Amino acid sequence: MDLRPYNLSQDQLVRAAELAVSGLICYQPFIFSDNLITGAGYEFAKVKEGAGMIYCPQLPPSTTTYKNAKRHLIDPAILDEFRNYNDSLRVLYESMLDLIVEKVGDPRDLTYADVGSCTGYFPLSLAKRGAKEAVGYDVVDYAPTYELLNQILGTNAKFKRAAYDHELGTVPGAGTFDVVLSIALLVHMSDPLRHLAFLGKIARKALFVWTFTSNAEEDEMVNRYTSINRYYETARFPYCFDMTQLSPGLLRRSLEAMGFTEIHLLQPRPDGMPASCFNRHRGYLAIRPQEWAEGSFVPRPYWTADSFAIADPLPHIIETIGNYNIVLYKQRFYAFPHGLSPFGSETADLMALPGVISHAFLDELRRVVRQTIDQSVGRVVHSPHQVEAIADYNIIEYLGRYHAIPQWLGPFQVDKVDLTVMPGIISHDDLDELRVAVRKAIDERGGESQ
Ligand SMILES: C[S@@+](CC[C@H](N)C(=O)[O-])C[C@H]1O[C@@H](n2cnc3c(N)ncnc32)[C@H](O)[C@@H]1O
Repeated sequence: MDLRPYNLSQDQLVRAAELAVSGLICYQPFIFSDNLITGAGYEFAKVKEGAGMIYCPQLPPSTTTYKNAKRHLIDPAILDEFRNYNDSLRVLYESMLDLIVEKVGDPRDLTYADVGSCTGYFPLSLAKRGAKEAVGYDVVDYAPTYELLNQILGTNAKFKRAAYDHELGTVPGAGTFDVVLSIALLVHMSDPLRHLAFLGKIARKALFVWTFTSNAEEDEMVNRYTSINRYYETARFPYCFDMTQLSPGLLRRSLEAMGFTEIHLLQPRPDGMPASCFNRHRGYLAIRPQEWAEGSFVPRPYWTADSFAIADPLPHIIETIGNYNIVLYKQRFYAFPHGLSPFGSETADLMALPGVISHAFLDELRRVVRQTIDQSVGRVVHSPHQVEAIADYNIIEYLGRYHAIPQWLGPFQVDKVDLTVMPGIISHDDLDELRVAVRKAIDERGGESQ
Protein backbone atom coordinates (compact mmCIF):
# COMPACT_ATOMS: atom_id res chain seq x y z
CA MET A 1 0.00 0.00 0.00
CA ASP A 2 1.51 3.29 -1.06
CA LEU A 3 0.93 5.73 1.77
CA ARG A 4 2.88 8.62 0.28
CA PRO A 5 -0.27 10.43 -0.95
CA TYR A 6 -1.40 10.66 2.70
CA ASN A 7 1.44 13.09 3.49
CA LEU A 8 2.57 11.48 6.71
CA SER A 9 3.70 13.77 9.49
CA GLN A 10 7.24 13.53 10.83
CA ASP A 11 5.86 11.90 13.99
CA GLN A 12 4.03 9.28 11.93
CA LEU A 13 7.17 8.51 9.94
CA VAL A 14 9.23 8.09 13.11
CA ARG A 15 6.55 5.87 14.63
CA ALA A 16 6.40 3.76 11.45
CA ALA A 17 10.19 3.31 11.50
CA GLU A 18 10.09 2.34 15.18
CA LEU A 19 7.36 -0.22 14.54
CA ALA A 20 9.24 -1.52 11.50
CA VAL A 21 12.50 -2.22 13.28
CA SER A 22 10.69 -3.72 16.24
CA GLY A 23 9.13 -6.26 13.84
CA LEU A 24 5.62 -4.83 13.93
CA ILE A 25 5.65 -3.56 10.34
CA CYS A 26 7.86 -5.41 7.93
CA TYR A 27 6.25 -8.43 6.23
CA GLN A 28 3.49 -6.65 4.30
CA PRO A 29 4.20 -4.19 1.48
CA PHE A 30 3.87 -0.59 2.63
CA ILE A 31 5.56 2.53 1.29
CA PHE A 32 5.58 5.17 4.02
CA SER A 33 8.04 7.43 2.19
CA ASP A 34 10.84 7.10 -0.36
CA ASN A 35 13.02 6.30 2.64
CA LEU A 36 10.80 3.82 4.45
CA ILE A 37 9.59 0.81 2.49
CA THR A 38 8.59 -2.58 3.88
CA GLY A 39 7.61 -6.00 2.54
CA ALA A 40 8.69 -9.61 2.13
CA GLY A 41 8.37 -9.48 -1.69
CA TYR A 42 12.10 -9.75 -2.34
CA GLU A 43 12.56 -12.68 0.06
CA PHE A 44 9.63 -14.53 -1.57
CA ALA A 45 10.65 -13.92 -5.17
CA LYS A 46 14.32 -14.77 -4.62
CA VAL A 47 13.58 -17.50 -2.06
CA LYS A 48 16.10 -15.77 0.21
CA GLU A 49 14.78 -15.73 3.71
CA GLY A 50 16.77 -13.21 5.77
CA ALA A 51 17.61 -10.92 2.83
CA GLY A 52 15.54 -8.20 4.47
CA MET A 53 12.08 -6.67 4.62
CA ILE A 54 12.79 -3.02 5.47
CA TYR A 55 14.46 -0.21 3.58
CA CYS A 56 15.20 2.60 5.99
CA PRO A 57 18.58 4.23 5.36
CA GLN A 58 18.17 6.76 8.19
CA LEU A 59 16.92 5.09 11.34
CA PRO A 60 15.42 7.65 13.74
CA PRO A 61 17.59 8.22 16.84
CA SER A 62 14.82 6.77 19.02
CA THR A 63 15.49 3.32 17.55
CA THR A 64 19.11 3.13 18.67
CA THR A 65 18.04 1.46 21.90
CA TYR A 66 15.96 -1.17 20.05
CA LYS A 67 17.29 -4.70 20.27
CA ASN A 68 18.17 -6.14 16.84
CA ALA A 69 17.02 -2.90 15.20
CA LYS A 70 18.92 -3.75 12.02
CA ARG A 71 17.75 -7.37 11.80
CA HIS A 72 15.34 -6.88 8.90
CA LEU A 73 17.07 -4.00 7.10
CA ILE A 74 18.07 -4.69 3.50
CA ASP A 75 21.43 -4.12 1.92
CA PRO A 76 20.86 -0.85 -0.05
CA ALA A 77 22.54 -2.54 -3.04
CA ILE A 78 19.33 -4.55 -3.66
CA LEU A 79 17.04 -1.51 -3.34
CA ASP A 80 15.71 -1.51 -6.91
CA GLU A 81 14.81 -5.19 -6.89
CA PHE A 82 13.46 -4.89 -3.34
CA ARG A 83 11.19 -2.06 -4.43
CA ASN A 84 10.05 -3.89 -7.58
CA TYR A 85 9.25 -7.17 -5.85
CA ASN A 86 7.32 -5.40 -3.12
CA ASP A 87 5.35 -3.58 -5.82
CA SER A 88 4.58 -7.04 -7.23
CA LEU A 89 3.54 -8.30 -3.81
CA ARG A 90 1.27 -5.27 -3.44
CA VAL A 91 -0.27 -6.06 -6.87
CA LEU A 92 -0.83 -9.66 -5.74
CA TYR A 93 -2.55 -8.47 -2.55
CA GLU A 94 -4.68 -5.99 -4.49
CA SER A 95 -5.65 -8.71 -6.98
CA MET A 96 -6.98 -10.80 -4.06
CA LEU A 97 -9.01 -7.84 -2.82
CA ASP A 98 -10.29 -7.07 -6.33
CA LEU A 99 -11.43 -10.68 -6.82
CA ILE A 100 -13.23 -10.71 -3.47
CA VAL A 101 -14.97 -7.38 -4.08
CA GLU A 102 -15.89 -8.26 -7.66
CA LYS A 103 -17.42 -11.65 -6.81
CA VAL A 104 -18.89 -11.16 -3.34
CA GLY A 105 -20.23 -7.64 -3.63
CA ASP A 106 -20.17 -4.15 -2.23
CA PRO A 107 -17.96 -3.97 0.90
CA ARG A 108 -20.35 -1.46 2.44
CA ASP A 109 -22.85 -4.29 2.93
CA LEU A 110 -20.38 -6.84 4.26
CA THR A 111 -18.36 -7.78 7.32
CA TYR A 112 -14.86 -9.25 6.95
CA ALA A 113 -12.40 -11.12 9.15
CA ASP A 114 -8.78 -11.81 8.27
CA VAL A 115 -7.31 -14.63 10.35
CA GLY A 116 -3.52 -14.24 10.71
CA SER A 117 -3.83 -10.63 9.55
CA CYS A 118 -0.29 -9.56 10.47
CA THR A 119 -0.04 -5.77 10.18
CA GLY A 120 -3.53 -5.45 8.75
CA TYR A 121 -3.04 -4.86 5.02
CA PHE A 122 -6.32 -6.61 4.19
CA PRO A 123 -8.64 -5.31 6.92
CA LEU A 124 -7.25 -1.80 6.38
CA SER A 125 -7.74 -2.02 2.62
CA LEU A 126 -11.29 -3.31 3.08
CA ALA A 127 -12.02 -0.56 5.58
CA LYS A 128 -10.64 1.89 3.01
CA ARG A 129 -13.08 0.41 0.48
CA GLY A 130 -15.94 1.13 2.88
CA ALA A 131 -16.42 -2.25 4.62
CA LYS A 132 -19.25 -2.40 7.15
CA GLU A 133 -16.73 -4.05 9.48
CA ALA A 134 -13.18 -5.33 8.95
CA VAL A 135 -11.42 -7.25 11.70
CA GLY A 136 -7.95 -8.77 11.84
CA TYR A 137 -6.99 -11.59 14.20
CA ASP A 138 -3.39 -12.43 14.97
CA VAL A 139 -1.40 -14.21 17.65
CA VAL A 140 1.10 -11.31 17.66
CA ASP A 141 -0.02 -7.98 19.10
CA TYR A 142 -0.28 -5.71 16.07
CA ALA A 143 -2.56 -3.23 17.86
CA PRO A 144 0.03 -0.38 17.69
CA THR A 145 0.43 -0.98 13.95
CA TYR A 146 -3.31 -0.89 13.33
CA GLU A 147 -3.52 2.26 15.42
CA LEU A 148 -0.91 4.06 13.31
CA LEU A 149 -2.25 2.83 9.96
CA ASN A 150 -5.88 3.63 10.84
CA GLN A 151 -4.74 7.11 11.82
CA ILE A 152 -2.91 7.60 8.52
CA LEU A 153 -5.71 6.21 6.37
CA GLY A 154 -8.64 7.59 8.37
CA THR A 155 -10.07 4.09 8.67
CA ASN A 156 -11.54 1.99 11.45
CA ALA A 157 -10.18 -1.49 10.91
CA LYS A 158 -10.29 -3.48 14.14
CA PHE A 159 -7.56 -5.67 15.53
CA LYS A 160 -8.11 -8.53 17.94
CA ARG A 161 -5.14 -10.26 19.43
CA ALA A 162 -6.34 -13.84 19.41
CA ALA A 163 -4.72 -17.07 18.32
CA TYR A 164 -6.23 -20.03 16.56
CA ASP A 165 -6.01 -22.70 19.24
CA HIS A 166 -5.12 -26.06 17.70
CA GLU A 167 -6.42 -28.08 20.66
CA LEU A 168 -9.81 -26.34 20.49
CA GLY A 169 -9.87 -26.00 16.70
CA THR A 170 -11.04 -22.40 16.93
CA VAL A 171 -10.18 -18.81 17.76
CA PRO A 172 -12.07 -18.59 21.04
CA GLY A 173 -14.72 -15.91 20.88
CA ALA A 174 -14.48 -15.34 17.13
CA GLY A 175 -17.87 -14.51 15.71
CA THR A 176 -19.13 -15.09 12.20
CA PHE A 177 -18.50 -12.81 9.24
CA ASP A 178 -19.81 -12.48 5.72
CA VAL A 179 -16.34 -12.94 4.27
CA VAL A 180 -13.31 -14.61 5.84
CA LEU A 181 -9.75 -14.29 4.56
CA SER A 182 -6.85 -16.61 5.27
CA ILE A 183 -3.65 -15.60 3.52
CA ALA A 184 -0.40 -17.50 4.04
CA LEU A 185 -1.57 -18.98 7.34
CA LEU A 186 -2.81 -22.44 6.36
CA VAL A 187 0.77 -23.21 5.33
CA HIS A 188 1.79 -22.98 9.00
CA MET A 189 -0.98 -25.24 10.26
CA SER A 190 -0.31 -28.85 11.22
CA ASP A 191 -4.06 -29.42 11.24
CA PRO A 192 -4.93 -27.77 7.91
CA LEU A 193 -8.29 -29.45 7.33
CA ARG A 194 -9.45 -28.76 10.86
CA HIS A 195 -8.28 -25.18 10.48
CA LEU A 196 -10.16 -24.92 7.18
CA ALA A 197 -13.27 -26.27 8.90
CA PHE A 198 -12.94 -23.48 11.47
CA LEU A 199 -12.61 -20.87 8.71
CA GLY A 200 -15.63 -22.35 6.92
CA LYS A 201 -17.62 -22.27 10.12
CA ILE A 202 -17.12 -18.54 10.67
CA ALA A 203 -17.68 -17.62 6.99
CA ARG A 204 -21.33 -16.92 6.20
CA LYS A 205 -20.99 -16.08 2.50
CA ALA A 206 -17.45 -16.51 1.29
CA LEU A 207 -13.98 -17.71 2.22
CA PHE A 208 -10.78 -16.65 0.49
CA VAL A 209 -7.78 -18.90 1.07
CA TRP A 210 -4.29 -18.31 -0.29
CA THR A 211 -1.77 -20.97 0.60
CA PHE A 212 1.32 -22.85 -0.43
CA THR A 213 0.20 -25.91 -2.39
CA SER A 214 1.90 -29.08 -3.55
CA ASN A 215 2.55 -29.66 -7.23
CA ALA A 216 0.30 -32.75 -7.19
CA GLU A 217 -2.21 -33.10 -10.00
CA GLU A 218 -5.56 -31.41 -9.44
CA ASP A 219 -7.30 -34.74 -8.77
CA GLU A 220 -4.75 -35.97 -6.21
CA MET A 221 -5.62 -35.69 -2.53
CA VAL A 222 -2.30 -34.98 -0.83
CA ASN A 223 -1.22 -33.27 2.35
CA ARG A 224 2.55 -32.92 2.66
CA TYR A 225 4.48 -31.56 5.63
CA THR A 226 7.85 -30.11 4.81
CA SER A 227 9.50 -29.20 8.09
CA ILE A 228 9.31 -28.93 11.82
CA ASN A 229 7.85 -25.54 12.68
CA ARG A 230 10.64 -22.99 12.91
CA TYR A 231 8.50 -19.93 13.47
CA TYR A 232 6.27 -21.05 16.28
CA GLU A 233 8.71 -22.85 18.51
CA THR A 234 6.28 -23.51 21.30
CA ALA A 235 4.14 -25.63 18.98
CA ARG A 236 4.12 -29.20 20.27
CA PHE A 237 3.36 -32.48 18.58
CA PRO A 238 0.99 -33.08 16.80
CA TYR A 239 0.88 -29.38 15.91
CA CYS A 240 4.60 -28.86 15.32
CA PHE A 241 4.82 -29.43 11.57
CA ASP A 242 5.13 -26.60 9.13
CA MET A 243 5.16 -25.61 5.48
CA THR A 244 2.07 -27.71 5.03
CA GLN A 245 1.27 -28.23 1.38
CA LEU A 246 -2.24 -29.32 0.55
CA SER A 247 -2.69 -30.44 -3.03
CA PRO A 248 -4.88 -28.04 -5.03
CA GLY A 249 -7.47 -30.82 -5.40
CA LEU A 250 -7.68 -31.48 -1.67
CA LEU A 251 -8.00 -27.77 -0.97
CA ARG A 252 -10.75 -27.34 -3.54
CA ARG A 253 -12.63 -30.44 -2.42
CA SER A 254 -12.41 -29.34 1.20
CA LEU A 255 -14.07 -26.06 0.25
CA GLU A 256 -16.79 -27.96 -1.61
CA ALA A 257 -17.26 -30.26 1.37
CA MET A 258 -18.03 -27.23 3.51
CA GLY A 259 -20.90 -26.20 1.25
CA PHE A 260 -19.13 -23.67 -0.96
CA THR A 261 -20.34 -24.28 -4.48
CA GLU A 262 -18.87 -21.39 -6.47
CA ILE A 263 -15.09 -21.53 -6.47
CA HIS A 264 -12.90 -18.96 -8.25
CA LEU A 265 -9.18 -19.47 -8.78
CA LEU A 266 -7.08 -16.33 -8.34
CA GLN A 267 -5.30 -15.55 -11.61
CA PRO A 268 -1.75 -14.16 -11.80
CA ARG A 269 -1.21 -10.65 -13.12
CA PRO A 270 1.76 -9.77 -15.32
CA ASP A 271 2.82 -7.09 -12.83
CA GLY A 272 2.20 -9.39 -9.84
CA MET A 273 4.58 -11.87 -8.22
CA PRO A 274 6.69 -13.89 -10.67
CA ALA A 275 5.35 -17.28 -11.79
CA SER A 276 8.09 -19.08 -9.81
CA CYS A 277 6.45 -17.76 -6.63
CA PHE A 278 2.79 -17.40 -7.69
CA ASN A 279 2.55 -20.92 -9.12
CA ARG A 280 3.59 -22.57 -5.89
CA HIS A 281 0.43 -21.20 -4.29
CA ARG A 282 -3.29 -21.34 -4.87
CA GLY A 283 -5.81 -18.67 -4.07
CA TYR A 284 -9.39 -19.87 -4.02
CA LEU A 285 -12.37 -17.66 -3.40
CA ALA A 286 -15.18 -19.97 -2.31
CA ILE A 287 -18.76 -18.68 -2.22
CA ARG A 288 -21.85 -20.26 -0.71
CA PRO A 289 -24.85 -20.72 -3.01
CA GLN A 290 -27.78 -18.33 -2.97
CA GLU A 291 -30.01 -21.29 -2.02
CA TRP A 292 -28.14 -21.41 1.26
CA ALA A 293 -29.44 -17.99 2.28
CA GLU A 294 -32.89 -18.91 0.97
CA GLY A 295 -33.03 -22.14 2.95
CA SER A 296 -33.52 -24.49 0.02
CA PHE A 297 -29.98 -25.80 -0.25
CA VAL A 298 -29.52 -29.58 -0.41
CA PRO A 299 -26.27 -30.66 1.25
CA ARG A 300 -24.32 -33.79 0.46
CA PRO A 301 -24.64 -36.84 2.70
CA TYR A 302 -21.18 -36.63 4.28
CA TRP A 303 -21.64 -33.09 5.45
CA THR A 304 -22.03 -32.35 9.10
CA ALA A 305 -23.86 -29.38 10.52
CA ASP A 306 -20.40 -27.89 11.07
CA SER A 307 -20.03 -27.64 7.31
CA PHE A 308 -22.37 -24.71 7.35
CA ALA A 309 -21.98 -21.09 8.33
CA ILE A 310 -23.92 -20.94 11.52
CA ALA A 311 -25.15 -17.44 12.00
CA ASP A 312 -28.34 -18.01 10.04
CA PRO A 313 -30.98 -18.64 12.71
CA LEU A 314 -33.58 -19.99 10.29
CA PRO A 315 -34.24 -23.70 10.10
CA HIS A 316 -33.46 -25.25 6.73
CA ILE A 317 -35.55 -28.16 5.51
CA ILE A 318 -33.07 -30.38 3.74
CA GLU A 319 -35.19 -33.33 2.70
CA THR A 320 -38.06 -35.55 3.69
CA ILE A 321 -37.74 -39.18 4.74
CA GLY A 322 -41.09 -40.94 5.10
CA ASN A 323 -43.17 -38.80 7.41
CA TYR A 324 -40.18 -36.87 8.79
CA ASN A 325 -38.84 -33.49 7.71
CA ILE A 326 -35.06 -33.43 8.01
CA VAL A 327 -34.05 -29.98 9.18
CA LEU A 328 -30.76 -28.21 9.84
CA TYR A 329 -31.13 -25.80 12.70
CA LYS A 330 -28.43 -24.10 14.74
CA GLN A 331 -25.67 -26.53 13.81
CA ARG A 332 -27.66 -29.72 14.39
CA PHE A 333 -29.75 -31.97 12.23
CA TYR A 334 -33.29 -32.78 13.38
CA ALA A 335 -35.98 -35.11 12.13
CA PHE A 336 -39.42 -33.68 12.85
CA PRO A 337 -42.45 -35.93 12.35
CA HIS A 338 -44.92 -34.30 9.95
CA GLY A 339 -47.55 -32.26 11.68
CA LEU A 340 -45.25 -30.72 14.25
CA SER A 341 -44.61 -27.01 14.01
CA PRO A 342 -41.57 -26.74 16.23
CA PHE A 343 -40.41 -23.26 15.35
CA GLY A 344 -43.14 -21.24 17.00
CA SER A 345 -40.75 -20.27 19.74
CA GLU A 346 -37.03 -19.51 19.51
CA THR A 347 -36.61 -20.98 22.95
CA ALA A 348 -38.62 -24.18 22.42
CA ASP A 349 -36.87 -27.27 23.72
CA LEU A 350 -36.95 -29.11 20.44
CA MET A 351 -36.00 -32.46 21.89
CA ALA A 352 -38.95 -32.30 24.27
CA LEU A 353 -41.34 -32.38 21.31
CA PRO A 354 -42.83 -35.80 20.69
CA GLY A 355 -41.01 -38.01 18.21
CA VAL A 356 -38.18 -35.61 17.42
CA ILE A 357 -34.82 -37.22 16.62
CA SER A 358 -31.57 -35.30 16.42
CA HIS A 359 -27.95 -35.92 15.50
CA ALA A 360 -24.81 -33.97 14.71
CA PHE A 361 -24.24 -36.01 11.54
CA LEU A 362 -26.71 -36.04 8.68
CA ASP A 363 -25.87 -39.59 7.66
CA GLU A 364 -26.35 -40.89 11.16
CA LEU A 365 -29.66 -39.09 11.54
CA ARG A 366 -30.87 -40.63 8.28
CA ARG A 367 -29.90 -44.09 9.56
CA VAL A 368 -31.81 -43.66 12.81
CA VAL A 369 -34.86 -42.20 11.06
CA ARG A 370 -35.02 -45.09 8.59
CA GLN A 371 -34.65 -47.59 11.41
CA THR A 372 -37.40 -45.84 13.36
CA ILE A 373 -39.71 -45.89 10.36
CA ASP A 374 -38.96 -49.59 9.65
CA GLN A 375 -39.73 -50.50 13.19
CA SER A 376 -42.91 -48.48 13.33
CA VAL A 377 -44.36 -50.01 10.17
CA GLY A 378 -43.28 -53.60 10.53
CA ARG A 379 -41.53 -54.85 13.56
CA VAL A 380 -42.00 -54.27 17.24
CA VAL A 381 -40.79 -50.82 18.18
CA HIS A 382 -38.05 -51.20 20.74
CA SER A 383 -37.64 -48.59 23.32
CA PRO A 384 -34.23 -48.52 24.97
CA HIS A 385 -33.84 -51.34 27.46
CA GLN A 386 -31.18 -52.40 29.91
CA VAL A 387 -29.38 -55.63 29.07
CA GLU A 388 -27.08 -55.81 32.08
CA ALA A 389 -24.70 -53.76 34.21
CA ILE A 390 -20.92 -54.02 34.23
CA ALA A 391 -19.41 -52.33 37.29
CA ASP A 392 -20.72 -48.75 37.16
CA TYR A 393 -21.92 -48.96 33.55
CA ASN A 394 -25.50 -49.74 32.52
CA ILE A 395 -25.53 -51.63 29.23
CA ILE A 396 -28.48 -50.42 27.14
CA GLU A 397 -29.70 -51.78 23.82
CA TYR A 398 -31.35 -49.25 21.54
CA LEU A 399 -32.08 -49.34 17.82
CA GLY A 400 -29.79 -52.30 17.23
CA ARG A 401 -26.76 -50.83 19.05
CA TYR A 402 -25.40 -51.40 22.52
CA HIS A 403 -24.35 -48.51 24.73
CA ALA A 404 -22.41 -48.61 28.00
CA ILE A 405 -23.65 -45.63 29.97
CA PRO A 406 -21.71 -44.59 33.08
CA GLN A 407 -24.05 -44.46 36.06
CA TRP A 408 -22.50 -41.14 37.14
CA LEU A 409 -24.26 -39.50 34.19
CA GLY A 410 -27.47 -39.90 36.20
CA PRO A 411 -30.89 -40.69 34.78
CA PHE A 412 -31.84 -39.41 31.30
CA GLN A 413 -33.98 -40.54 28.38
CA VAL A 414 -31.71 -42.48 26.06
CA ASP A 415 -33.95 -41.92 23.04
CA LYS A 416 -33.95 -38.16 23.56
CA VAL A 417 -30.26 -37.38 23.52
CA ASP A 418 -27.38 -37.73 21.12
CA LEU A 419 -25.35 -40.47 22.78
CA THR A 420 -22.30 -39.74 20.64
CA VAL A 421 -21.69 -36.39 22.30
CA MET A 422 -22.26 -37.42 25.90
CA PRO A 423 -19.12 -37.98 27.95
CA GLY A 424 -17.96 -41.45 28.88
CA ILE A 425 -20.43 -43.45 26.79
CA ILE A 426 -19.03 -46.44 24.90
CA SER A 427 -21.08 -47.85 22.01
CA HIS A 428 -20.82 -50.89 19.78
CA ASP A 429 -22.99 -52.89 17.40
CA ASP A 430 -21.79 -56.12 19.03
CA LEU A 431 -22.53 -56.85 22.69
CA ASP A 432 -19.40 -58.97 23.26
CA GLU A 433 -17.15 -56.31 21.72
CA LEU A 434 -18.80 -53.71 23.92
CA ARG A 435 -18.14 -55.80 27.03
CA VAL A 436 -14.45 -56.02 26.09
CA ALA A 437 -14.27 -52.25 25.53
CA VAL A 438 -15.98 -51.54 28.85
CA ARG A 439 -13.62 -53.82 30.79
CA LYS A 440 -10.67 -52.15 29.09
CA ALA A 441 -11.98 -48.71 30.07
CA ILE A 442 -12.38 -49.87 33.65
CA ASP A 443 -8.84 -51.34 33.68
CA GLU A 444 -7.44 -48.07 32.33
CA ARG A 445 -9.12 -46.20 35.14
CA GLY A 446 -7.21 -48.42 37.53
CA GLY A 447 -9.92 -51.04 37.89
CA GLU A 448 -11.43 -49.24 40.82
CA SER A 449 -14.88 -50.59 40.07
CA GLN A 450 -13.97 -54.25 39.86
C1 LIG B 1 2.96 -15.81 7.01
S1 LIG B 1 2.14 -14.57 7.89
C2 LIG B 1 0.89 -14.04 6.80
C3 LIG B 1 0.39 -12.68 7.11
C4 LIG B 1 -0.72 -12.13 6.22
N1 LIG B 1 -1.90 -12.95 6.24
C5 LIG B 1 -0.22 -11.96 4.81
O1 LIG B 1 -0.31 -12.88 4.03
O2 LIG B 1 0.28 -10.88 4.52
C6 LIG B 1 1.23 -15.53 9.07
C7 LIG B 1 0.53 -14.67 10.12
O3 LIG B 1 -0.28 -15.54 10.90
C8 LIG B 1 -0.08 -15.27 12.28
N2 LIG B 1 -0.33 -16.53 13.01
C9 LIG B 1 0.44 -17.63 13.07
N3 LIG B 1 -0.12 -18.59 13.83
C10 LIG B 1 -1.29 -18.07 14.25
C11 LIG B 1 -2.34 -18.57 15.06
N4 LIG B 1 -2.29 -19.80 15.60
N5 LIG B 1 -3.41 -17.78 15.30
C12 LIG B 1 -3.48 -16.53 14.75
N6 LIG B 1 -2.51 -16.00 13.98
C13 LIG B 1 -1.43 -16.76 13.72
C14 LIG B 1 1.36 -14.78 12.36
O4 LIG B 1 1.62 -14.00 13.52
C15 LIG B 1 1.49 -13.98 11.07
O5 LIG B 1 1.10 -12.64 11.25
